[in-house]
Amino acid sequence: MRVVVLCGGESSERDVSLASGWSVTGALLERGHEVVLVDPAAEVPVLAGPLHPGEVVGGVAVGKEPPPLAERHQLRRRMHAALTGGPVLELLRGAELVFLALHGGWGEDGHVQALLEMAGVRFTGAGSAACAAAWHKGRAQAVLGAAGVPVAERVLWRPGAADEVPAGVKRLVEAGPVVVKPVADGSSVSVHRADSLAGLARLAQAAAEGPCGDVELMVEPFLAGREFTVPVVGDQVLPVVEIELTTPLFDYTAKYQSGAVSEVCPAPVPDAFAYRLQEWALRAHQALGFGGDAYSRTDFRCDAGGEPVCLEVNALPGLTTTSLLPLAATGSGWAYSGLVQRIVDLATR
Ligand code: DAL
Ligand code: MG
Repeated sequence: MRVVVLCGGESSERDVSLASGWSVTGALLERGHEVVLVDPAAEVPVLAGPLHPGEVVGGVAVGKEPPPLAERHQLRRRMHAALTGGPVLELLRGAELVFLALHGGWGEDGHVQALLEMAGVRFTGAGSAACAAAWHKGRAQAVLGAAGVPVAERVLWRPGAADEVPAGVKRLVEAGPVVVKPVADGSSVSVHRADSLAGLARLAQAAAEGPCGDVELMVEPFLAGREFTVPVVGDQVLPVVEIELTTPLFDYTAKYQSGAVSEVCPAPVPDAFAYRLQEWALRAHQALGFGGDAYSRTDFRCDAGGEPVCLEVNALPGLTTTSLLPLAATGSGWAYSGLVQRIVDLATR
C-alpha cells in the first residue's frame, strides 16, 4: 500500500512525533508498504521517500525540550500553508492511506483529521469529532465522569496578568498540593505541582510564558498514588502498564530524557484491579466517540488511598518503539511492526 506518514507538525510534542514517524516508517517498510515520510511544518516537508518495502531507516531521538513558542508560530504558519493547498495536500490525496504519527496541537485536536475527512483521504486513528472531544481535558473529563469513569475534581483557569486566583482554585490549593497543567496539551509539557498559593501564581505566570502560549490551565489535586495506562486498539483492550516513577510527576523530562521511570507490563496488580482499569479505558474510548477502527490510550493515577482516577484519553498516543502503547502491545503478543500493521488494518478494513 502507498502510505504517507505524517509527523512533526506545529505542536509542543513535535519532537516526539518525529520520533514516532521514523519508527512507524521502519515498521511499514518491514510490512511491505511503500512510504513517504512528511512533516508538514518543515521547510522541506518530504523528510524521506518514496521508500520501498524492505528498506531500512534509522530513528531520531526526542529533543530535550519542546520547541519554544516563537518557533511554534513559524511551524504553525508552514503547516497551515502545506495542508491547505499545494504539493503536500496533493501528496496526501494521492496516498492510499495517511498514517497519523502526529501528536498534540493540530495533529491530535481534530484539525488535521477534519481536513482529511473533507478531502476524502483515508487516515489512521480516531476521526475529528472524537479527537476534539478528547483533546480538551476539562471537557473530556465531564464526558468521562458522566459515563461512570472516575475523574478527579478540577478547576479550569485562564490566568491573566492582573487576575485574582479564582475561588475554586484557591480552595483546591488550600486543601493540599495541586497539579497544574495546560488543559489542552500533551506529553506533560508544562505540568507542575504547586504546594501553595504563591507557588501556584508563579506556575501560572510561567505557563503563560511557556511553550504552550496563552493557555487555559487545569488545576487538580495532586494524586500521590501509582500511575497506570491502558491502550485500546479497535475493540481490543490491551494489558495494563504501570509507570513506576522515581520523580513526583511523570513530566516531559521523565518521559523522554532521564530514565527516571520504569514501565512494567503487565502491571503487578490484582486481576480485579487490572480488569477495572481495562473496563474504564474501554468505556472512556467509547464515551468520547472512538470507534472500533480507532485506537487510544487512557491514563490513570491513584490517590493516596489507592483509588484510581482517569487523567486523560490520548487520541494519538506515542508510537516510538519505546512508547507505552507499543510496550502494551508486546504484552498482547504483537511485535512493534505488528501493532503498526494492526492500526493500518483497522483504518482500511
Ligand atoms: N502524548 C504522547 C505522545 C503520548 O500520549 O504518548
Ligand atoms: Mg496526553
